[in-house]
This record gives sequence, structure tokens and C-alpha cells, in this order.
Amino acid sequence: MNIIVTGGAGFIGSNFVYYELEHHKEDRIICLDKLTYAGNLETLKDAMKNENFRFVKADIADREAVFKLFEEEKPDIVVNFAAESHVDRSIEDPGIFLRTNILGTQVLMDACRKYGIKRYHQVSTDEVYGDLPLERKDLFFTEDTPLHTSSPYSASKASADLLVLAYHRTFKLPVSISRCSNNYGPYHFPEKLIPLMISRAFEDKSVPVYGKGENVRDWLYVKDHCAAIDLIMRKGREGEVYNVGGHNERANIEVVKTVLAIMGKSEDLIEFVTDRPGHDRRYAIDPTKISEELGWTPETSFDDGIRETVEWYGKNKEWLNGVLSGDYMEYYDKMYSNR
Ligand code: NAD
Ligand code: DAU
Repeated sequence: MNIIVTGGAGFIGSNFVYYELEHHKEDRIICLDKLTYAGNLETLKDAMKNENFRFVKADIADREAVFKLFEEEKPDIVVNFAAESHVDRSIEDPGIFLRTNILGTQVLMDACRKYGIKRYHQVSTDEVYGDLPLERKDLFFTEDTPLHTSSPYSASKASADLLVLAYHRTFKLPVSISRCSNNYGPYHFPEKLIPLMISRAFEDKSVPVYGKGENVRDWLYVKDHCAAIDLIMRKGREGEVYNVGGHNERANIEVVKTVLAIMGKSEDLIEFVTDRPGHDRRYAIDPTKISEELGWTPETSFDDGIRETVEWYGKNKEWLNGVLSGDYMEYYDKMYSNR
């Protein structure tokens, strides 16, 4: 099969590219990515050596470029990871979130309609459900929890989800949606909590914790998320939403202290800073549906995953410095400007 993976130069998309190349050697993976600040070709340098992989630099909201690629590749499956993904940036400047996350999704689905596909899979987030109270440990997000968003980011993702379900009902497009909790692991851009803490602590710089660090996130190792998406897009039912999460809730302050302890750094590095406006209190996923229907369960414990993640950043400081310095854009020009 030909599989178009959008946003495959980012954090989860790149892990997914490697997952597919390893587990489905019979399939061809075409990565379409705009290479925003969050996309990095260095991340895909091993994939580039695989003859079943092709990289195309394009914007999912660019109708002409997207239709051209579909004409060339006639994909069987399209998996959409491409998005503006950082809540804090959406608070600073919402516009690009609406363009990429909503209009980009529309363009991809219009191309899917024209060229015909077996499955369009939308990678969504648990943030579309809003948040849960800290003191109600008995409450979890199910697929029937009403959409109730807090940030421009989550509102754009919820809008895209509604559009995907509308294309299914109105145009019979064969779609599926996954809504996952917070991921962590290799290639995570160092603007997000865990890689930011790791990259700052390496240099003995202060680590900024919003508010009192009491907000709770439900952490999942990125490879477990990739396995879930792979199952849903191949075996999940059309028109369905699947929640993905591993029952691994932690307060932010606990996560930060765990990272510092693994790195052998002092908790004195912690600096409590002004809270995020509209900060969601707690996310917690009920993954019963994916586990009962598709047999998915996470394989990596938080203790193992977080240790491996810290080790990965330790061994990949060049990658870290590259994404922080913007060197990856020069790398792209060098590799692709004359093609
Ligand atoms: P990321 O920011 O690391 O990567 C996003 C990728 O999309 C980058 O490679 C970027 O260059 C590309 N991109 C951005 N705009 C584009 C455009 N207009 N056209 C083509 N490519 C574009 O994001 P991530 O954390 O890997 O998240 C991937 C997806 O998973 C997103 O849809 C996000 O909403 C969702 N998600 C993320 C998490 C998480 O914890 N990170 C959890 C659940 C769901
Ligand atoms: O739940 C899934 C979502 O998880 C995804 O849809 C988003 O794309 C992804 O970015 C993530 O959103 P969060 O807002 O939960 O992730 P972030 O890493 O930005 O923040 C995690 C928690 O840590 C959150 O409560 C805010 C807090 N935080 C974050 C940063 C960047 C801090 O305390 N300090 C920080 O410097």
C-alpha cells in the first residue's frame, strides 16, 4: 500500500514513519511536511535511506500541491499528523492554528474524495474534551464525552474532528479518528514540558513550572501511540473515534522531579512561573474501546519510558542543538534546493 503520512517530520509523525517502515516493510511511506519550526529533516535522515520512503515538502493547506501529490502517488491510506501543536503558541497567535489544523484537514479530505482512498485517519487529541476536575479521580474521557475546548489549539482540533465526521456522514469518506493523551519520547520538540525540562537541566538552567505544578496529564510513550494508530487505520471501524491512553496520570511537578532525579540534577532548578491562561486541570483517558475492539494495550511503563527518553536526549545532543538553532533549515536547502 501507499501511505501518505502528513507531519512526518515532527515528533509523533516521525516516530510513526519509523514504526511503519519497521513493521510493514511491504508498504511505501510518503511523508508530506511543510517543515515548520517543529519539523526537522534531520529526524528523518535514516528513513531517507529506505527505498520505500519518499519525502515531499508541502503545506497541507496548499490545495494545488496536495492534489498534485495525490495524483502522483494514488495513496491507499492518509494519516494526518500535520498540525500546529503547541497550546502556548496558539494563545500567542491563533490564526495559523485555524489555517493548518482546520483548512489543511479539509484540503486533505477533498483530495481523498477526488482520488479515492481506503482510509483517512485523523490524529486528534484528548484536549478536545476540555478538562476534568483535579479532585474527581473517578472521571475519565470516553468517546462520548462532549467536546468542550479551552485553547485556540484544542478548538481547532475539535473543529477538524467535526469536519472529519461530517465528511464521513455526508460524503461517505472512510475516516477514523484517534484522540490520544500526552505523548513523550524521542524527537519531541523542546518547547513541550518533558523535552524542555531535559534540555534546560542539561545546562543547569532553571526549569519553568506553570502555577504550582498541580495540573495532571496522562502520559503515553510515543511508540505505544504509533502502534494504536497503526491498528486503527488498518483494522478500526470506519466513522469511529478511538481514545488512546495508558492510565498513567501524573501531576506536572511529579514529572519534573522524576526527570531531574534521573538526570541527577537538583530540585533547586525548579522555578514556579505564571500559569498558562485557561490552563486545563486534568486529562485522563478511558481506553476501553480500543483495548476491547482492537486488543491494544500500552507496552512501555512510565518508569522505563521516561528513563529511555532522558537517555535518548543525552545521546542526541546534536539533534537537540540543531532543532534549537534552526540549522535544520540550512540542511534542507543544502539537500533539496536543486531538485
Ligand atoms: P509537532 O509539532 O511535533 O509536529 C507537527 C509536524 O507538522 C511538523 O513536522 C510540522 O512541520 C508539520 N506541519 C505543521 N504545519 C504543517 C502544514 N501546514 N503542512 C504540512 N506540515 C505541517 O506535533 P506532534 O506533537 O508530533 O503532534 C502530531 C499530531 O498529534 C498533531 O495533530 C497533534 O494535535 C496530535 N497529538 C499530539 C499529542 C502530543 O502529546 N504531542 C498528543 C495527542 C495528539
Ligand atoms: O493531551 C494531548 C496534548 O498534549 C496534545 O494535543 C498537544 O499537542 C501537546 O502539546 C500536549 O499539550 P499540553 O499543553 O498538555 O503539553 P505541554 O507539554 O505544553 O504541557 C504539559 C503540561 O506542563 C501542561 O500542564 C503545562 C505544563 N508546562 C508546560 C510547559 C511548556 C509547564 O508547567 N511548564 C512549561 O514550560
